[in-house]
Amino acid sequence: MSRFSYVNGRFVRHGIASVHIEDRGYQFADGVYEVIALAGGRFVDLDLHLTRLDRSLGELRIARPMSDRALTMVLSNLAKRNGIRDGSVYLQVTRGVAPRDFAFPVDAVPQVVATARRFKPVDPKALADGVKAITIPDLRWARCDIKSVALLPAAMGKQAAREAGAYEAWQYDRDGFVTEGTSSNAWIVTNEGELITRPPTNAILNGITRQVMIELAKDAGLRFVERAFTVDEAHAAREAFVTSSTSFVMPITQLDDATIGNGKPGSFSVRLRETYLARMAEIAGARA
Ligand code: PDD
Repeated sequence: MSRFSYVNGRFVRHGIASVHIEDRGYQFADGVYEVIALAGGRFVDLDLHLTRLDRSLGELRIARPMSDRALTMVLSNLAKRNGIRDGSVYLQVTRGVAPRDFAFPVDAVPQVVATARRFKPVDPKALADGVKAITIPDLRWARCDIKSVALLPAAMGKQAAREAGAYEAWQYDRDGFVTEGTSSNAWIVTNEGELITRPPTNAILNGITRQVMIELAKDAGLRFVERAFTVDEAHAAREAFVTSSTSFVMPITQLDDATIGNGKPGSFSVRLRETYLARMAEIAGARA
């Protein structure tokens, strides 16, 4: 099936979808993005994603390209045209096209592109055994709370993970505290049974899955503590996992050379993944 993408008001064949070479996203990473999951043809937590998009745009003083309603129409049309019911849409808004100048152009018109893709089937072995992660110094800028397209350090980090046979790289700050994964939030469960993730400051992206998971964990009566944890604590943890809109909950059973817990996904990770998937199934089955 041919794939369509959205480029500034038009649905175009994916193979020829393009933006101008002087788009500031291309030249300065001057843009923001969202990745939103689709379950049974319905968006998962669309309102939370649109709110975060609005915040990211505001922080960078990029004009809002269109209303939430119009954006929602664009994204759902895109998914429909591609025949995708279970997958994700990628939305990027840049400041606009202008002759190269570091300072903002005065009359920039934000550029909007979007693509859609089906979920890749999850490797059942990865879920049954958990995956490996490595730790790397966090070399990103100081505003990781903005969902900016400045992803070079993240791309370098994910590549380092791939080359180490790992699924994700957990970044740590100068004080040895884990910030987050390159494209996911980081969680541990201590030997005392406390579920821990770092508070949403400028050091991390406040994941939508993270926000929802905190509520699900509280509802399930799990002992949740929002605080920073060190790499050493993570190595000694009973459980570790990551969350994101595309991996939901992925258990980590090896971090660097340390085996986490007994080397199998732990009960919190398994339970939270099941609870999250049940919520997705509910969203998929919900009436429009
Ligand atoms: N990444 N932290 C970072 C640095 C991320 O890039 C992401 C998501 C998350 C999790 O956020 P959410 O739960 O809202 O997906 C945390 C997306 C999936 C990506 O770049 O493809």
